[in-house]
Amino acid sequence: MESIERFDPWGHVLIDYHKLFSVFGVEPMKNLLPKLEQLGPLHRLYRRGVVFAHRDFDKIVRALKNGEKVAVVTGFMPSGPFHFGHKMVADQVTYLQSLGAKPFIVIADAEAYAVRGLPRSKIIEYAKIYVANLIALGVDPERATFYMQTNYREPYYRLIQMASAKATLAEMTAIYGDLDPGKIMAVLTQVADILHPQLDDFGGYKHVVVPVGPDQDPHIRFTRDVADRLSGELGTRKPASTYHRLMRGIDGSGKMSSSRPESYISLNDPVDVAVRKLMNAYTGGRATAEEQRRLGGEPEKCAVYELYLYHLADDDLLKRVYNDCKAGRLLCGADKQIASKLLREFLEEHQKRFKEVYDTVEDYIKLPSF
Ligand code: TRP
Repeated sequence: MESIERFDPWGHVLIDYHKLFSVFGVEPMKNLLPKLEQLGPLHRLYRRGVVFAHRDFDKIVRALKNGEKVAVVTGFMPSGPFHFGHKMVADQVTYLQSLGAKPFIVIADAEAYAVRGLPRSKIIEYAKIYVANLIALGVDPERATFYMQTNYREPYYRLIQMASAKATLAEMTAIYGDLDPGKIMAVLTQVADILHPQLDDFGGYKHVVVPVGPDQDPHIRFTRDVADRLSGELGTRKPASTYHRLMRGIDGSGKMSSSRPESYISLNDPVDVAVRKLMNAYTGGRATAEEQRRLGGEPEKCAVYELYLYHLADDDLLKRVYNDCKAGRLLCGADKQIASKLLREFLEEHQKRFKEVYDTVEDYIKLPSF
């Protein structure tokens, strides 16, 4: 696997997960699972090792157990369709919400404008679609805060200003590499995204956890430092974080990303289009059927297997397709038929809910005028 010294929050590289442990010092999630399970049945993404590491998540588990206030903060860049990589994050948010955490969900429109250069009107269109998908996936909007980075409340902007005075250009360059003013703004804004739920203006101190992919770890490390530097003035503490494996693109290369249409299946794709994409997905199957029967398949490399693992399969089916594939009994064509059926069922149901909630989105988020 490729490995780079600096995880890149705006790039598309697959990263070396081991480096997270050895260089950046995150903890394996495995050791915490028995404690997490005491709060309720483990979510499949935790059980299956998709969420594989954390910083300080033990404190979050303890706080939830003691009934203390916890916020789960996550952000989405509205720079393209909402896809199954986003769903993985949404599922973690609904799980943590069900355990008592309050979601703060930011639509990162300032960041999308700065780093993706999309027209504002397009960004706002996507914002609505994101919020509708999140609600349709089970985030309870009555017990969550949704907001846009450019259209929120004053104390949030004050926090961005204060964060800007607590960082040096040298440390930011060391963490992020090349920076321009737009990226610097995006980084400081993200610091406020993560820290503001602790302020009195937003309901007072709470523990904060941020579920992210390892590509976002630079933001976490930087935010933890700034939290310390503001702690005297504002009482901010270091946020906790969890790390999930990034879904690979269905074309088999890189991560699933809105900016590479060939890499994703969107939750809003017409069902037939989505199924066609699945039927063409990269599987890592052998060169010939004969070879696959003889050697077995390689689910570890397979984008369809990842869809089962992250989203589509219950535990029984997951085990069955894995074993049958490995043994050469289940070939990619037949396997894709099984996955297609599940995908179709899921999307039909989801899109019905999406339609029902779409018109209520503006009850839950204040859209900017431009
Ligand atoms: N930078 C994130 C992305 O690239 C989006 C984001 C903005 C975010 N603010 C956040 C993520 C706060 C987690 C927490 O998608």
